[in-house]
Amino acid sequence: MVSFEISDLIQENRIDKSVYLDPEIFELEMQNIWAKAWIFIGHDSQVPHAGDFYTTDIGRSPVVMVRAKDGQVHVLHNRCGHKGAKVAGKKCGNVAGFRCPYHGWSYKLDGALRGVPNRHGYENTDFDIKDPQFSMTPLARVANVRGFVFASLSPEGPSIEEFLGDAIATINNVADRAPEGEIEIVCSPLRYEHDCNWKMFVENLNDAMHPMVAHASVGQAAKSYLADQPEGTVYPKEAEIIFPFGSSYKFFDEMKVTALKYGHSYMGGQSSIHTGYSDIPDYMDAMEAAYGDTKTKEILSQNRHNTIIYPSFTLKDAIQAMRVVRPVSVDKTIIETWHFRLKGAPDEMLKRTILYSRLINSNASMVGPDDWDCYRRMHEGLQSHSSKWVDMRRGLSADSKATQSKGAQSFGTSDLSFRNQYRVWAKYMNTGTSDA
Ligand code: FES
Ligand SMILES: [Fe+2]
Repeated sequence: MVSFEISDLIQENRIDKSVYLDPEIFELEMQNIWAKAWIFIGHDSQVPHAGDFYTTDIGRSPVVMVRAKDGQVHVLHNRCGHKGAKVAGKKCGNVAGFRCPYHGWSYKLDGALRGVPNRHGYENTDFDIKDPQFSMTPLARVANVRGFVFASLSPEGPSIEEFLGDAIATINNVADRAPEGEIEIVCSPLRYEHDCNWKMFVENLNDAMHPMVAHASVGQAAKSYLADQPEGTVYPKEAEIIFPFGSSYKFFDEMKVTALKYGHSYMGGQSSIHTGYSDIPDYMDAMEAAYGDTKTKEILSQNRHNTIIYPSFTLKDAIQAMRVVRPVSVDKTIIETWHFRLKGAPDEMLKRTILYSRLINSNASMVGPDDWDCYRRMHEGLQSHSSKWVDMRRGLSADSKATQSKGAQSFGTSDLSFRNQYRVWAKYMNTGTSDA
């Protein structure tokens, strides 16, 4: 029994501040959203060999992704079948099998219980080593989309194809941008704890009203630098990457925002803040050799800014960057920034991606911390005893026209993606499911 009604919290044009602040709401989100939706776990290139594993969480539920001897990638509950201790303690590694550090129960790579020390004490009990209740049980549903592994704690819900809808085009485009059609995760993700509710981060990614304000200092610095350069200067990649953060409202409006089912959204499509990057030598040659001229042009013409696969996963196809959301508590969220190599592409592509993270997303960057400061200010400001409402009505009058076959589209600085997220949030929270 909860002490609030979801319908009191979400209106068409605004939401109650407790959506960000109330620990009871956070707990319900863990049950009704994070334990129901498809959540991004990792990429199968992180576990290339039998016995390779990677641990993470879905909400508060610890899980481990592991490759078994037959090559299959499993996602298991990281919980001992005996008394519940977390079995795999490291972030990643390679094992012949799992062994619980408490009483030594051991497991095969697919989670089946292999052995129990001092077994004779179980004689004449109903203990059965084959009984799944004593295993590290597989998650209810696991799906692999071009190497991206998603899982759901819930046995019910939409298929991964239905859930992703047109957001799958971003995943496909990321993989297609590799001349070999596959990506490969490199190094550990950057992880930083934000003092904010997870939804503030998720909203921010397609919030096009903030870059020219929150990131004004860095945008302005890039502009001044470029203005001072003599004609014909070849700009460094740093300038190319930073400069668009100072773009105008008109630029972002023309980029457009598209809201999809299940709370997903993306900005851009044919163009985005990444469109103006210069070519990387040899990359086009590698693409054309792999796909031919027409197909290469088609692949590279898709240019989405941030695609949000609600609630856990965000991806930029054109810059090969992804960020993953791991909620910790009502006001703490870990954001992971991941990097991947486009197989068959020159190393310069990976270097540019890492440069992008260093400049824009890392905790020592010139852009990300502007956003974190705004989230923290929201948490501070929302303690105020003035209005309890958080506004999201920008572009509301255009929503009825904002429909197209693949989702609802509006001008880029519309609050459409937030309204879409909270419409779906309310459905999850009310029923533990979202049909759209
Ligand atoms: S809790 Fe794992 S063996 Fe006892
Ligand atoms: Fe930002």
